[in-house]
Amino acid sequence: MPKLAVNVDHIATIRQARLAKEPDPVHAAFLAELAGASGIIVHLREDRRHIQDRDVKLLKQTIKTKLHLEMAATDEMQKIALDIRPYMVCLVPEKRQELTTEGGLDAASKIDFLKGFLAPIKEAGIKTSLFIDADEIQIEAAKKIGSEYIEIHTGHFADATDDLSIRNELKKILKAIKIAQDLKLKVNLGHGLNYENIWAFSKVHGICEYSIGHSIVARAALVGMERAVRDMVEIISTFVD
Ligand code: PXP
Repeated sequence: MPKLAVNVDHIATIRQARLAKEPDPVHAAFLAELAGASGIIVHLREDRRHIQDRDVKLLKQTIKTKLHLEMAATDEMQKIALDIRPYMVCLVPEKRQELTTEGGLDAASKIDFLKGFLAPIKEAGIKTSLFIDADEIQIEAAKKIGSEYIEIHTGHFADATDDLSIRNELKKILKAIKIAQDLKLKVNLGHGLNYENIWAFSKVHGICEYSIGHSIVARAALVGMERAVRDMVEIISTFVD
C-alpha cells in the first residue's frame, strides 16, 4: 500500500508567526503518527522561516516512524544531515523569496556535484531522494546521480485550473512515473496534493509515498491533527499498490 508522510512545516509556520513556543511540530508529529502517518517530513530552510534546528533534533529523537529531511544541497545542510541522520534526505531547490518550493531541482545541470554531495550521506546509511519535475531529462539525471528515490513534483498539476491543463499535467506525471519505474527508481509524489486532487493517483501502481503538508495542516487547524491525518490515510488506503 502506498504510504503517507506528513510534512509538519506549517505547524512551525504558525509558531514562528508569533516567535512563540507553540504549536510544536513535535506534538503534531506525535499526533500524525497516532493517526497512521508512516513518516514525518520537515524542510529545514536556510532562512529558518518555519522549522528550526531544534525541531529536527527533537523529531529524530522522538518519532517512531521515519524522519524525512528536505534540504538544499549546501555544506551547512550536509553537515546537519550527517549529524542528525534522518531516515531520508530529499534534496530540493531553495530560493529565499519563494513562498514555497516552486519547482523541481535542476539535477541534470549538476550531476557530478550532486553525486559527490550525496556520497557521504549514502555512506552514512541515509536514503536519498531528489525532488524533480516530471521531466525525462531530470529523471535520467537522478538515475546517473545514484539516488534511490525521486519525488515527482505534483505542484503544476495541483495548480492547474482548467480541465485540459489538469489532464496534461497529470499525463506528464504518469509518463514520468513510468520512466522512473523502468529505470528502477523508487517514486514518491508531493506538493500541492489535497483531499480531492490526490484521487487522480488512486489507480497508479508503484507509488511508495505521498508527501503532504499544507492541505493536512489546513484541515488540522479546523478539525485537529489526528482527524486530518486519518482522513488522508483513509483515502490513500484505498489506492492500488
Ligand atoms: N514535497 C516537497 C519537496 C516540498 O518542498 C513540499 C512543501 O514543503 C511538499 C512536498 C509538501 O507540499 P504541500 O505542503 O503543498 O503538501
